[in-house]
Parts: sequence; structure tokens; C-alpha cells
Amino acid sequence: MLDLLVTHATLPDGRTDMSVAVQDGRIVDVTHGLRAPARETLDAAGQLLTPPFCDAHFHMDSTLSYGQPRVNASGTLLEGIALWGELKPTLTQDAIVERALAYCDLAIAQGLLAIRSHVDTSDPRLLAVDALLDVKRRVAPYIDLQLVAFPQDGVLRSPGGMDNLRRALDRGIDVVGGIPHFERTMAQGAESVTRLCELAAERGLRVDMHCDETDDPMSRHIETLAFETQRLGLHGRVAGSHCTSMHSMDNYYVSKLIPLMAQAQVHVVANPLINITLQGRHDTYPRRRGMTRVPELLAAGVNVAFGHDCVMDPWYPLGNADMLDVAHMGLHVAQMTSQDGIRAAFDAVTAHGARVMGLDGWGLAPGREASFVLLQARDVVEAVRLRPARLKVYRRGTLLAETAPVVAVRHHAAGQGAAAPR
Ligand code: FE2
Repeated sequence: MLDLLVTHATLPDGRTDMSVAVQDGRIVDVTHGLRAPARETLDAAGQLLTPPFCDAHFHMDSTLSYGQPRVNASGTLLEGIALWGELKPTLTQDAIVERALAYCDLAIAQGLLAIRSHVDTSDPRLLAVDALLDVKRRVAPYIDLQLVAFPQDGVLRSPGGMDNLRRALDRGIDVVGGIPHFERTMAQGAESVTRLCELAAERGLRVDMHCDETDDPMSRHIETLAFETQRLGLHGRVAGSHCTSMHSMDNYYVSKLIPLMAQAQVHVVANPLINITLQGRHDTYPRRRGMTRVPELLAAGVNVAFGHDCVMDPWYPLGNADMLDVAHMGLHVAQMTSQDGIRAAFDAVTAHGARVMGLDGWGLAPGREASFVLLQARDVVEAVRLRPARLKVYRRGTLLAETAPVVAVRHHAAGQGAAAPR
């Protein structure tokens, strides 16, 4: 007797009428039209069953703090960093935990069950570190929360920056972060990349740096990051987040850079909602989009994920943990409107994010965790178009959340018998 059998599901790869059999929290079979006795049966009725959404880049220590102590008047990255600096001295561990848990509840309802969050290590009290480690323990039954030690004020630029980051790792933070473009000079930025990659290699940890989140085409720390990845044998374990300077770089230089990134197997995480909002702020017109070169990186074989980055914090006043919103914005900014492009945008918030995070149990295949989301959509393209209701959200075979299907009641019909677009 199975614990759970999902029938008549469409999978992200396009297979239809698929059954997914679950036993002891794991998928034991994925096959066409399986019928078998089960304690619980879910008829997907032809709708899309996807592994959970993955957010490969988020800031959970600042989420839901919008307006504290004031809003970002200029809307720029640098005012956001200054504003976060004003907020930090007033933060309490309880307040960070409370906001983070509220966000996790929202994430679960949206089928977002894997999040890599950066946590600011600049404050020597490490309040945010302790808070998010507590949150990680508390949400472990529901969400894979991976934490990155992120020296927001610069690991070399701020006094004690490297020591604070080391102490955060000692306490159990998973990944080494960095912010080379915010260090005082290009040389210091490059030095920070080298030292942080060496630290990660020593400790056997992954790396995820905010890398070149600027419109300055000369900000080339991603080159150093890819080089150090190769030198230290960290292939596949390093991510460059944002990489927005690549948008503005010289094409000839990029033709040399992207193959290096591909060889080093550096992952790239673009953050479309935030990049389109924060970049190009010093431009008049034409105004740059500022997002990194997603289609070109994908074509070169680089794994590119999309992150949400911010929700209602000093940098961004909107957002609701919906990774399909992120995919929708991403494909618009990158002009990925072909069918393959839309599917790639869906992958960027699912499979590609799981690869960035190194999640072995993620995916709809025998032996993997029975974690999946049933969407009110017939396929991946429709899911991105509609950003529909998450009808059911399962984690390791347990139903975590459900949303009633959205049904419009029409009191007037424009076309008799014609199917109205949803
Ligand atoms: Fe970020």
C-alpha cells in the first residue's frame, strides 16, 4: 500500500498522464498511468506537477522590514545599503526571527521550499546570524534553508569584517559570501575574492558572492571568481550573484569571459525584479536594463538561476515569494519570449536553482524526496503566463499547504460558447 499516489499529472518535461507513487516521504515510481492502492490519492486532472520552486538568492534578515526606519527615497542600491545600516543598530534577534518566519509561511503557501538566503555578518554581535540559524532549525521540516555569510559592508572595507565572517561560519552558516565591488578599490575587491575562495576551500564550503552588482563595465570580479574557482578546484560549487556589470561590458571582453565561467562551472544567479529596479539609476536615456546576459550564459552552458533577492525591504517595496513572478520578469528583461526561453525561465526558478544550492534530493524521480507542487496550469509555459494558484504543496509526502482553484464567475459572456482566455 502506497502512502500517496498522484495520477493524471503533467510534468515540467511535457509528459502527460503521469503517476507519481510515494512511500515513506520518497518518490518510489514515476510512470505513465500507474494505478495502485494508496492511503491518499490525488487526481491532478492533467495539471502541472512540478518539484518545488527554489530561490537561489534571497535576504531573509531584511525581509518584511519595509519602511523601517524610513523608505528608500532614491530607490538606489547604495541608499538601500545606507538604510539597512540605519536599521541594523535597532534590530533584535526576536524581530528578525518573527519576520523571517512570516516570510517562510508565505513561501510555503507559494510552493517555494528551497531558499538560499544571505545573512549579513557585518555586525559583530552576529544577531542576524543567530536569528537565521534559529529560523533554519525551525523551518527544517518545511523548507531547505541554506545560509550564506554575507559581509554587506565589505569583508576588507569594514573593521573586523573577515573575523566576523569566520565566526559566522563557525556557528554553522553553510556558504561563504562576499561583495567585492563594494570593497574600496578594484585591487581590494580582487583580494577579497581570493581570500574568501581560499577560506571556502579550506573548510570544504560552497561560495556565493554578490559579484559586480553595478553598472560599471570595468567591475570584473566575476573573472577573478571564475579564475579562483579553477585554481582551487571548486568547480560547480561557486556562484556569482547578480553579475549586472556584464550587461554593460564590452562584447569582446565578454567573449573571453563567458568561456572562462563555463570552464569553471560557475553558477550565475540573476535577480530580475531587483536588477531592473536598481540598475541604470545613474542613466538618463537610454536607460540600461542592467540584468546580466542570461541567454548568452545559458547558450554557453552556464547554469543560470533567478532569485527573488528582496521582498519588502530597504531595496524593494514589493514581492510576495512567488517565484513565477520572478521568472515572468526575468524572461521579459532578457527578451526570452520563445517557447524555449519561457521554459528556461521556469527552469531558472526550479531546476537551475536546485543545482546552485546542490540539492541532491530535488526532482521528480524515483529515490528523490516526495516534494512537489500542483499548479492550476496545464504546462510550464501556461504556469509562467498565469502565475496560477498552488493547488497543493507537498513536502516529503506531507501536504503543507493548499489553495482553492481560482474560478471566475461571469455574469455577462461576450462570446457565446467561446472559451474565454484566463
Ligand atoms: Fe542580494
